[in-house]
Amino acid sequence: MSERHGVVVGISGASGAAIGVRIVEHLAQNPRCAVHLVVSPAAERTLAEEIGTTALPRLRALAFRDHAPSDVGASIASGSFPVSGMIVAPCSIRTLSAIAWGQLDNLLVRAADVQLKERRRLVLLVRESPLHLGHLRAMVQATEIGAIIAPPLPAFYLKPQSLSDVVDQIACRAINLLGLPDVAVPAQQWHGEDAGRT
Ligand SMILES: Cc1cc2nc3c(=O)[nH]c(=O)nc-3n(C[C@H](O)[C@H](O)[C@H](O)COP(=O)(O)O)c2cc1C
Repeated sequence: MSERHGVVVGISGASGAAIGVRIVEHLAQNPRCAVHLVVSPAAERTLAEEIGTTALPRLRALAFRDHAPSDVGASIASGSFPVSGMIVAPCSIRTLSAIAWGQLDNLLVRAADVQLKERRRLVLLVRESPLHLGHLRAMVQATEIGAIIAPPLPAFYLKPQSLSDVVDQIACRAINLLGLPDVAVPAQQWHGEDAGRT
């Protein structure tokens, strides 16, 4: 069996903590994937507010490694450590801005910068609304240096039946944006007029 893909999952303090949890749940089920988790202090707060106080210990237990955001000397802070990509879900404007302009003051943003400098995929599920020009400029800057901005928006055309469906669709799409065939998960797709044909 070939080596496992290391995937970094950063959870920052934007709304939508459940999406980050679902991404980790999917990746943790895959024996070919090792999740390196970084949860910001603000995300600890949103996890507790939005899901409950049991969410964080459950999440930490799913990870292959749970890194403290203050540990800027962790393995994933170095480009020489072999990981295959990173998702930040949800991604706050603070974390987006820090990544966009290289304000690398914690492990989450340092690991994100490492993906960019090593030319690996970095998927940012930026969550804020409404957006002012500074937010939009930060997204442009992050895109120009190589990140993929993928706001966590429902795919209404897939007719989700519940919030859990919405969370799952967004989580699967984010994982598949890593572009790693071994890590990809089955995701609902729109087939248009080809629906039902083989
Ligand atoms: C319940 C709650 C919801 C929040 N939602 C958002 C949000 O959707 N987007 C955002 O950019 N910040 C949001 N924030 C504010 C961030 O948590 C705050 O800016 C924090 O400093 C982000 O830090 P981090 O990027 O290190 O996680 C929210 C905070 C709380 C407590």
